[in-house]
Amino acid sequence: MAAKEPIGVIGVGWVGLCTAAAFAELGHEVVARDILPEKVESLSRGEVPIHEPGLPELVQRNAERLTFTTDIADILDRTRLLFCCVDTPPTYSGDADLSRVERVVDELGESDEHAIVMKSTVPVGTGRSIKRRREALGYVSNPEFLKEGSAVEDFMHPDRVVIGADDSSRGFADRVGALYESLGGPIVRTDVASAEMIKLASNAFLATKISFINEIANVSEELGADVNEVARGMGLDDRIGPKFLKAGLGFGGSCFPKDVSALKQLAGNSGYAFQLLTSVIEVNDLQKRRAVGKLQKYLGSLVGKEIALLGLPFKPDTDDVREATSLVLAARLQGEGANVRVYDPVAARSAADMLGGSKVCDSALEALDGAHAAVLVTEWPEFAELDWAGDVKQRMANPLVVDGRNFLDREALREAGFTYEGIGR
Ligand code: UGA
Repeated sequence: MAAKEPIGVIGVGWVGLCTAAAFAELGHEVVARDILPEKVESLSRGEVPIHEPGLPELVQRNAERLTFTTDIADILDRTRLLFCCVDTPPTYSGDADLSRVERVVDELGESDEHAIVMKSTVPVGTGRSIKRRREALGYVSNPEFLKEGSAVEDFMHPDRVVIGADDSSRGFADRVGALYESLGGPIVRTDVASAEMIKLASNAFLATKISFINEIANVSEELGADVNEVARGMGLDDRIGPKFLKAGLGFGGSCFPKDVSALKQLAGNSGYAFQLLTSVIEVNDLQKRRAVGKLQKYLGSLVGKEIALLGLPFKPDTDDVREATSLVLAARLQGEGANVRVYDPVAARSAADMLGGSKVCDSALEALDGAHAAVLVTEWPEFAELDWAGDVKQRMANPLVVDGRNFLDREALREAGFTYEGIGR
């Protein structure tokens, strides 16, 4: 059997570490480089700094094939396919900041033996502009479609693998395609600009689906429909599909908000006003605040009211609070004069700095004790398992629950004497 192609990974954040560990699991030698020595040291000891189910096991199981380094020369010596996984945060203008990507390109120079395989999310046109400056270097666009919380599973069972390259990099693209063959998902071979657009358009479309169902939820509240039933009925249409039709307090995370803005900005820079995305963003911003009005409906002024926020990350199974609804809500509620207590099973302590004057609690019960209302922000399973009818009801000063993810048992709560407010029902 032919030896497996060694892989280089540049930038060991969430995408880089998931990619490195998954290729090691598939039997490849992987050399992963980060510029932070302390990160490289702790990863070399097998310590995984992020909460991602299955990832620590993968890192530990494949430790022999997985090397971490700060030195780019290690990667260039030992590997030819260099997966670029550095981050591309938004700048003040809303464009993606490509300075880290540029640094990587500079480090690779003009080698014709190496190819940069772009996993970082970059604006459409980035590949073409890099190729113009570095003709010899191979360039392959290979966007990632991993979801936080199920990244390992997503990597091993891809819906599709997208590989974009121009003619001069076709050989490298074949080699990248071969890496994914054993996973069995469809491989989409295309040009670089289309591959870059597939990534941005996919995230923008999913975000649009969420803002759409959130608006249907808001109208359903006015007209007496139940958005869960509406989504169920819509989702059975094959052309619509049931996924990403869960109404709630808006989308967050490091990807959707950034990528929707980046695509809108990219369109604007090219002279096209992408009006739909402007609305998607605005609907989402308002949706994050929607719990405030619901609390006021029952409590009137929120001055001096004790409000418990349950859950901090932008979704369960991660400790990531970037663009999380909880942060907007905590600030907004404090702005209304409420006293905010928060509890989260994994993220509360690390996010404490971002929560302003909120009190960080060690348990859901502590947060709920004496509270005038509970707002469920992140659908962690442990919140459904609380003894709402018993312990929780006794502890709360007022039995009001705003279920921001339509996650709790509405009937059971109402039967137990709670005032229950969901989203769109
Ligand atoms: C998203 C995409 O789903 C991935 O395919 C992509 O690779 C990734 O961005 C990226 O670009 O790196 P992720 O940000 O991990 O993945 O999270 P999602 O599971 O997509 O959820 C995003 C947000 O939408 C969460 O706040 C979630 O609560 C919200 N959401 C999701 C809803 O409000 N309703 C839904 O029906 C689904």
